[in-house]
Amino acid sequence: MRIAVAGATGALGRHVVAQLEEAGHEAVPLSRSTGTDLTAPDAARTLPARLEGADAVIDVSGTNVLSSGASRAFFGNVTRTLLAAEREAGVPHHVAVSIVGAARVPVGYYASKALQEEIVTAQEGAGGCGTARCCRGPGRGWGTRPSTNGSPRHL
Ligand SMILES: NC(=O)c1ccc[n+]([C@@H]2O[C@H](COP(=O)([O-])OP(=O)(O)OC[C@H]3O[C@@H](n4cnc5c(N)ncnc54)[C@H](OP(=O)(O)O)[C@@H]3O)[C@@H](O)[C@H]2O)c1
Repeated sequence: MRIAVAGATGALGRHVVAQLEEAGHEAVPLSRSTGTDLTAPDAARTLPARLEGADAVIDVSGTNVLSSGASRAFFGNVTRTLLAAEREAGVPHHVAVSIVGAARVPVGYYASKALQEEIVTAQEGAGGCGTARCCRGPGRGWGTRPSTNGSPRHL
């Protein structure tokens, strides 16, 4: 499979890319240091071409700015930009990595992760992106949620 990894060069992203490649998949890196700024003004226009032929996007991008406003702006902007580009490019799966219990801590960085979950879940509800997943981890272990067809969803 061809899988785009937003945040491919990060602490988590590096392992995601290594695991994908080890399993024989093609990883398409999306990060500033590999030439893709997901917060750039022209990201919505340029990203669909970058996602062409992708079977899924795994979003492990992140910001080291922990303040509520800046982190909400980052995760809100990046998540909406990715999902819109995926719709345009016909990418059927989106996986976002959140933090266990983020929605129960409505402050700062955690609130921005809860916002990210909300945006992905709303997309999932609308059905426009096929299977939109929002898994939580790592914390108390990788989370799973039941899918609409009853089978578990794993990250
Ligand atoms: N690390 C953990 O223990 C942990 C636990 C739970 C959840 N998470 C979640 O997992 C995600 C990744 O965490 P992490 O610790 O791996 O973060 P990280 O090491 O800070 O990596 C962030 C990644 O995002 C990329 N990035 C930042 N700004 C970008 C932009 N404007 N456009 C494109 N790419 C951008 C960075 O690459 P460039 O700098 O090259 O752009 C880097 O690849 C976050 O959403 C975090 O909340 C992490």
